[in-house]
Amino acid sequence: SDPDLVERARAARAALGPRAFVLGHHYQRDEVIAFADVTGDSFKLAREAAARPEAEFVLFCGVHFMAESADILTADHQQVVLPDLAAGCSMADMAAIDQVEDAWDVLVDAGVADDTVPVTYMNSTAAIKAFTGRHGGTVCTSSNAHVALRWAFEKVGGVEGTGKVLFMPDQHLGRNTAVLALGLTLDDCVVFDPRRPNGGLTVQQLRDARMILWRGHCSVHGRFSARNVADARAADPDVTVLVHPECTHEVVTAADLVGSTEFIIKTLDAAPAGSSWSIGTELNLVRRLADQHPDKRVAYLDDTVCFCSTMNRIDLPHLVWAMESLVAGRPVNRIVVDPEDAHWARVALDQMLALPG
Ligand code: 13P
Ligand code: SF4
Repeated sequence: SDPDLVERARAARAALGPRAFVLGHHYQRDEVIAFADVTGDSFKLAREAAARPEAEFVLFCGVHFMAESADILTADHQQVVLPDLAAGCSMADMAAIDQVEDAWDVLVDAGVADDTVPVTYMNSTAAIKAFTGRHGGTVCTSSNAHVALRWAFEKVGGVEGTGKVLFMPDQHLGRNTAVLALGLTLDDCVVFDPRRPNGGLTVQQLRDARMILWRGHCSVHGRFSARNVADARAADPDVTVLVHPECTHEVVTAADLVGSTEFIIKTLDAAPAGSSWSIGTELNLVRRLADQHPDKRVAYLDDTVCFCSTMNRIDLPHLVWAMESLVAGRPVNRIVVDPEDAHWARVALDQMLALPG
């Protein structure tokens, strides 16, 4: 990093003191993580944001949907700042609120809406979370998706019953959790494609389904393939393959372990010296894990470089610019969620925070 910028960042951070709280997602660059007061996955960061009422400014080093959730969970007097407004998420963009409203109408027409609970992944816009709150559902993250799904199925007769979950926007997290953690089958899952009439599904398919999966995915985790897993095993027969549940079902079932970024970090921390790992998640995190565990072999699952380009938009220049704007009393890039959406999104977020475990 540019030493002048590091100096400016230190000066601005010191000038802000406890007035500011800096959150950093695990996929952020090292130069940004160096200034984070706390790092975490999206679940931990949502909880941390809600637990800092004394901070006037919450600087969110992550992507737009996370900053929106922080704005919803913080008090009115607190300001949430996203250092680069272009730090979006291609997965969140795959579910627009109009499409979701139309999809619900399809479920109503098929006679299944009363028997369906929406569950939305954190990686969605505030409007989708608000839709979920209005329809009695919950938000989830990759660390609690199994608990959220069980809770949702309990509302409509249990996992063994006939009720359904509409899971948005990540089809892979939904499918992987339903099949691997809840014991549903691949045949219980259908994919709702918002670009096709009636989602590309017949009324009978909708009636028979247990998991209605939105056709969305993560452009970073979606790149890993079963071939990558086979190659990792061929290169090192002792390797343990550890992947994020946003990977495809094929990859997750070929891997040895699956879990959220927080799970991946804890697993590496607990691993014995000399053990060998191939990790399928975002590259900033994998490189940091390799640096932090020189006594273990930590490899990246793919041979092509795969950062999350929008996470990477938050860099030191943007962080310095955002912090200096706060010091100067002219905050930039404030994230403010529409109050009506914020109310209902909070219902769905609070439901997530109240889930057991
Ligand atoms: P978690 O932080 O919940 O592991 O999610 C990963 C991710 O893709 C965040 O954008
Ligand atoms: Fe979105 Fe995937 Fe990037 Fe996470 S890693 S912000 S889900 S594109």
